[in-house]
Amino acid sequence: MYTQDPLFWRAGAFATTAFMAAVLAMLTVDTLRQISPGGAHVPSYSVINHEITYQYDPALKQYGPKVGGEDLLFGRSYTDEEASALIARGKLVIQSRACIDCHTFFGNGAYYAPDLTRAWMDPKWAIYAGPKRSEKIARFLMNPLRLGARAMPNLGITRDEAEAVVAYLKWMSSIDANGFPDRFGAPVGAEQ
Ligand code: HEC
Repeated sequence: MYTQDPLFWRAGAFATTAFMAAVLAMLTVDTLRQISPGGAHVPSYSVINHEITYQYDPALKQYGPKVGGEDLLFGRSYTDEEASALIARGKLVIQSRACIDCHTFFGNGAYYAPDLTRAWMDPKWAIYAGPKRSEKIARFLMNPLRLGARAMPNLGITRDEAEAVVAYLKWMSSIDANGFPDRFGAPVGAEQ
């Protein structure tokens, strides 16, 4: 019987490993395409020049970010390179202050303070239109005032750092997170 032959099993193991390695490579390439800025689910960095809202999609039966017309951050327009550098800086500020010790990003992190994925569109800030919203959030980061039950500490964030963080928060809010967080900022049942 061929099943008694070790060569049969060895060939099977090699073939399976090779096939799965090819599948893994394809999935990796596809994932990178989906999650890279400018890809299917992550807008390019210059999205910070646009209005971003959270809207209900009846086809998908979930909320998702929607990129609209021009809405300049701090009242100025950023090229793709400038936006990319600013957001990279914002990420470093976020990492250096360990915001994730208190906050979550896409649900990952600590549950002491609010999730920041859609902080840019938090109704607390969304009442401010145009450059005023970025200004309010930047000032809050430099000198946090108490908005809710717990206070955010002053983390010694400079003006430049705050602008970079706000750019990061705005870009992050435009990322399609498959309906997370659910109906952010909208009253329950608002989608009906
Ligand atoms: C020690 C805990 C702690 C750390 C560290 C921290 N925060 Fe906060 N943060 C809070 C708390 C608590 C609140 C809620 C404040 C309130 O409601 O008054 C908050 C609120 C916020 C808000 C407003 C959220 C919203 O939805 O309106 C933003 C934006 C924010 N933090 C950003 C950051 C960033 C960026 C960092 C890192 C640079 C950071 N926080 C680090 C505790 C923290």
